[in-house]
Amino acid sequence: MQKILVTGGCGYIGAHTIVDLIENGYDVVSVDNNSRSTPQLLAGIEKITGKKVKNYKVDLCSYDDTVAVFQENRDITAIIHFAAYKAVGESVAEPLAYYENNLQSLVNLLKCTKEFQIPHFVFSSSCTVYGNPDHIPVTEETPQKPAESPYGATKQMGERIIEDFAKTGTIKSILLRYFNPVGAHPSIAIGELPLGKPANLVPAITQTAIGKIPSMQVYGTDYDTRDGSCLRDFIHVSDIAHAHTLAVNYMLAGKNEQPVEVFNLGTGNGVTVLEAIKAFEKVSGVKLNYTLGPRRPGDVIAIYANNDKAVTGLGWVIQYNLEDMMRTAWAWELKLKEDKTLHTSQNFQLN
Ligand code: WQD
Repeated sequence: MQKILVTGGCGYIGAHTIVDLIENGYDVVSVDNNSRSTPQLLAGIEKITGKKVKNYKVDLCSYDDTVAVFQENRDITAIIHFAAYKAVGESVAEPLAYYENNLQSLVNLLKCTKEFQIPHFVFSSSCTVYGNPDHIPVTEETPQKPAESPYGATKQMGERIIEDFAKTGTIKSILLRYFNPVGAHPSIAIGELPLGKPANLVPAITQTAIGKIPSMQVYGTDYDTRDGSCLRDFIHVSDIAHAHTLAVNYMLAGKNEQPVEVFNLGTGNGVTVLEAIKAFEKVSGVKLNYTLGPRRPGDVIAIYANNDKAVTGLGWVIQYNLEDMMRTAWAWELKLKEDKTLHTSQNFQLN
């Protein structure tokens, strides 16, 4: 059984990807220092898959501690690297913490691929690397604009670090650029555990609907879009997860000829913020309490994916539509309300 190391395995996309990897016959080990997560989702992974996944509570910014994980797991075939800080607004307030954490951890991991001869590296990237694109939908070849935030810059720099390292021949890599991951696993045994007040749209919607926060704002309704609100490509987290399994399959089958290959992970459908709210209201039956507020600095106006490459190259078939995304997100929020063992209130400090 091929063993995959997943960094950030206790996190939202990491946990969903571990489920998909296990369901597709892979053995998985996680490294997550729980600075932005808790081990709670490991229980959900075990509930879905029957497998207990070991997590090494290690800070990847410590090279020695990272090496120790590889010394104990000599049979790792591939690495999927999720672990990073990812709050756009926070990155503007704390840029050095973002550059140090997101880049030092990546460099340490890449040094380990050389030290332990691990040839396959999948990187969690983001549509944020496109900045505010001149034309949409964006393809993988769309020129990158300056990132709108230090978070986005760490993704652009991360891709460059990987490209330069892959050219030395030590690894081959796949960069997966997520659009807006939302929703929860259909079993509702795992989902998103936003830390403190949610910055992202869908957790803000569900927490407002359940009364955890009194109301929410739509950030800007004067944009040049069909209804004035920003346009995004919302993609179900389980579809994102399966794309990672397909990327690992693709690499282990030797199909990736280039040192680095890039794939957009979006549905290919643009949805506005107001349309997303309407879809939520339709599936939940809840009239959402929101106000129309000012623009949020740093927001991209409109972006959605051309996903042809992932569909044809990886054989990626999208399973979930916008209503499924909202339905599972809402079911997860209801689960959080009744299941007191799951909590999101933990205060997390930057290192
Ligand atoms: C979406 C839209 C907001 C909250 C970021 C990262 C991206 C990815 C996903 C990691 C925007 C609007 C939001 C609210 C609102 N991260 N909004 N009211 O900024 O598109 O992308 O998260 O993979 O890399 O950049 O996501 O959900 O924060 O915002 O109106 O209370 O919803 O203004 O237009 P974003 P988001």
